[in-house]
Amino acid sequence: MRYLETAGEKISKIGLGTWQFGSREWGYGEDYANREAHAIVERALEMGINFFDTAEAYARGRSEEILGRALDGRRVFVATKFLPIVPLPARIERKAQESRRRLQVEQIDLYQMHWPNPAFPARLGMEGMRRVRTAGITRHVGVSNYSLRRWKQADELLGSPTLSNQVLFNLVRRQPVRKLIPFAASNDRIIIAYSPLAQGLLSGKYSPDNQPQGMRRRNPLNPLASSTNLARAMPLIEALRRIGSTHGATPAQVALSWVLSHPNTVAIPGASSAAQVTQNAEAADLTLAEDEIIRLSDIAGSLDLKGGIRGAAEAMRR
Ligand SMILES: NC(=O)c1ccc[n+]([C@@H]2O[C@H](COP(=O)([O-])OP(=O)(O)OC[C@H]3O[C@@H](n4cnc5c(N)ncnc54)[C@H](OP(=O)(O)O)[C@@H]3O)[C@@H](O)[C@H]2O)c1
Repeated sequence: MRYLETAGEKISKIGLGTWQFGSREWGYGEDYANREAHAIVERALEMGINFFDTAEAYARGRSEEILGRALDGRRVFVATKFLPIVPLPARIERKAQESRRRLQVEQIDLYQMHWPNPAFPARLGMEGMRRVRTAGITRHVGVSNYSLRRWKQADELLGSPTLSNQVLFNLVRRQPVRKLIPFAASNDRIIIAYSPLAQGLLSGKYSPDNQPQGMRRRNPLNPLASSTNLARAMPLIEALRRIGSTHGATPAQVALSWVLSHPNTVAIPGASSAAQVTQNAEAADLTLAEDEIIRLSDIAGSLDLKGGIRGAAEAMRR
């Protein structure tokens, strides 16, 4: 395992995302929540993963509970998130305390604002986050899904640097490369890449005839896994396979290594099995050649994948 040392912290370049734990929308079922999730955490620890990400929103707190039970007091770096439907300071502090209880930790390591909520003044949200830190409920404050402008504003309102910005970042969603990653790299911050496998699309196991199951990925508002996109992504999957075969690596490992080739960036893939965690953790030790990184970016850049509102509308029509 390789580690990122930044702002006095040392966290594994591959962390574990736990949205899947207990979440109905992933469709993994009760046996997964009660048994496999524990095996996943155990395997992650064995593989040197020390960074675990969850959120109060995941399965309405159940993901935090499962993670807390599985960790059972073992000291790692735990990140969770506040769901900013009503981001007022007293509520943020109360919600952080509830998360800490569910996680069974004395202190959360990183408390993140899950999304910016433009319906409320940003000042109130950051006042709440400051309170949480001052009260010792968290060591660090982070943001998630923030543009560079909002991220800098959050720092100003907090009165000190936030540690991280957790954003969608993978081969087919490369926007953070433009501004967020350069900012993180020159300011001792961390980019936490979520959905680094594009929710399984980049693993190469899905195709137009074999689409992923579960509400989350069959949702028309999430057209990434539509048959159109799966067909259009095939040149990239082929390239991941070809490059993987020269390294003895899977397409998923190559896709994760591409994410990790960016400075100050860690990835938090979710997993449906402990075997996936082994593979994902091993990806931290895979180094791609410069020309391989460029080739993958070029192929990914040439794909016309439907996403966002346009893609959702198209998926609805279908
Ligand atoms: N801040 C935010 O707004 C936000 C949003 C989304 C996610 N997140 C966080 O980021 C984490 C990861 O994102 P994500 O779960 O959306 O997407 P992801 O990590 O890109 O995809 C996870 C899925 O890919 C498949 N997979 C994982 N490893 C694999 C491997 N080695 N080989 C083949 N398939 C593999 C598994 O699904 P199957 O086996 O079923 O195919 C797994 O559930 C979440 O758990 C959550 O903690 C944060």
